[in-house]
Amino acid sequence: MRKLLVGVLSSVVACAPSAPNAGQDWYPEEPDAAANPSPSSGDAQTGDGAAPPTVDPAAMAQLQMLSPATLPSPPPDVSNAHADDPKAAALGQSMFFDTGFSGALLDPANDGGPGTLGMRGQTGRVACMSCHDPAAGFVDDRSPGKQISLGAAWGRRTARSLIDVGQAKLLSWDGRHDTAYGISVGVLESPADLNSSRLYAAEQVYQRYKVAYEAIFGPLPPLDDTSRFPPMTAAVTGCQGTVTYTPEPTCSQIPHGVPGDGAEFDGMAYADRQAVTVVAVNMGKAIGAYLRLLNGGPSRFDAWMHGQSDALDASEQRGAQLFVGAGGCVACHSGPYLSDGRVHNIGLQATAVSPIQFIDANDQGALIGIQEAIGDPLNISGQFSDGNDGRLPPTVNPLMNGAFFTPRLRGVSKQPSFMNTGQLTTLTQVVEFFNSGGSSAGYPGTSEIGPLGLSAQDVADLVAFLGSLDGTAPAASLLSAPSP
Ligand code: HEC
Ligand code: HEC
Repeated sequence: MRKLLVGVLSSVVACAPSAPNAGQDWYPEEPDAAANPSPSSGDAQTGDGAAPPTVDPAAMAQLQMLSPATLPSPPPDVSNAHADDPKAAALGQSMFFDTGFSGALLDPANDGGPGTLGMRGQTGRVACMSCHDPAAGFVDDRSPGKQISLGAAWGRRTARSLIDVGQAKLLSWDGRHDTAYGISVGVLESPADLNSSRLYAAEQVYQRYKVAYEAIFGPLPPLDDTSRFPPMTAAVTGCQGTVTYTPEPTCSQIPHGVPGDGAEFDGMAYADRQAVTVVAVNMGKAIGAYLRLLNGGPSRFDAWMHGQSDALDASEQRGAQLFVGAGGCVACHSGPYLSDGRVHNIGLQATAVSPIQFIDANDQGALIGIQEAIGDPLNISGQFSDGNDGRLPPTVNPLMNGAFFTPRLRGVSKQPSFMNTGQLTTLTQVVEFFNSGGSSAGYPGTSEIGPLGLSAQDVADLVAFLGSLDGTAPAASLLSAPSP
């Protein structure tokens, strides 16, 4: 199959297409040079010594769509009026690293051992960065087993990378959220993640972020007025029972500080309940502004596409052509971020993951996720959004059964595991999975993929190509809490 891609005409341009004045300026120095020997070292990763292939014009046209001269900035986020406000992003950055919004650790797997965030019952242990670690490319390289994430309890999926997340309109593997503020409040109140509540978070904002918050969003409600806003502590916020897995992590008792608690939250006047939700939503909008800055930046692949002909070794160059050719990857992993932003069923039979050997055998993916997003009061058509660009479909489609959002692939090689439960642990396994055409049964819905018939060398070349997509950003200043 690869023959199709290798240029046979002597007139075909060299492997690296020419772009005016591209090269070193455009492409910052490759930090992993030692780990990725350039072809000039005479030692391609596969060691097969084959000359770099020339590129078929049709393949080149496809490759160019993956690598525009400048990577596009995140599209406007109409749900968030503060999406591009640097003050909001700075506040959001502080909050992203702040464990002080979280309630008690719930699952006994939190035994203080390696990869856990502390002991069951301890509070103030979880922040966004606990599962989106900047040092690991904003994925979860920590949780025991490095597959599904362990926050206050186990989640049912692996943390998605936040690199280039500003490009996504529907969020999560299954599209469960359609706004950055919605997912932030969701994570805050999930017993698997921060196990906290909007009421506790709003009071924490009042106590610890009042000046910065009010400079962006205007006056806070008087959250120190205990006659109107029952004071919460980390020990009483969220779930105080045990967690069962249904497979959604579910609290045995009604959590506190959230709508429907029949307690602190529901006891407040309607206007005060709304005011508390607005503070938690604005916290999510500040975090959303920060997330939009997490751009992965240009990769060696882009450098190659824009004139630096030795930026990819021979194997990586062949992999690039397979990606748009015989691999068929570009059917779903299209555009500058290598995602079409759509859901697809790729026929992946769930296998046991993590130390608890969790199997999510019947995950219906977007069929349930999109339904939940449609019913979510914090969605883009709700009263807390600043606008609606129609990103959320009005109804679910049966084809969404067992389908998940195509992941972006820039930076993917840094992940400790792959797919929605992290069940594949190497990129070779991922490419072999696609090559095999997926499982024949054992998953909801109907698979869209079939066998590819690639050789072992082709698989190795595709894996090498995926490794060339790692970018050089985000800037170091975004990788830790800002100094006060
Ligand atoms: C306990 C681990 C954990 C913590 C803590 C956590 N996340 Fe996540 N995050 C995940 C997992 C797991 C997913 C994928 C969830 C899914 O698809 O069902 C995810 C997905 C996301 C996504 C969607 C990315 C995409 O491309 O679809 C965003 C955005 C996000 N998280 C932001 C946050 C923010 C903001 C916080 C802090 C308020 C946070 N996360 C805290 C585990 C975590
Ligand atoms: C029909 C659409 C489709 C095609 C074709 C396709 N992918 Fe995917 N890819 C997906 C979806 C959807 C997922 C996530 C599936 C899941 O988690 O259940 C995925 C996951 C991945 C992942 C794991 C990313 C992560 O964050 O865990 C990699 C790597 C990947 N694909 C590479 C490839 C390569 C290489 C090819 C070509 C050989 C390919 N894909 C073909 C849709 C597709």
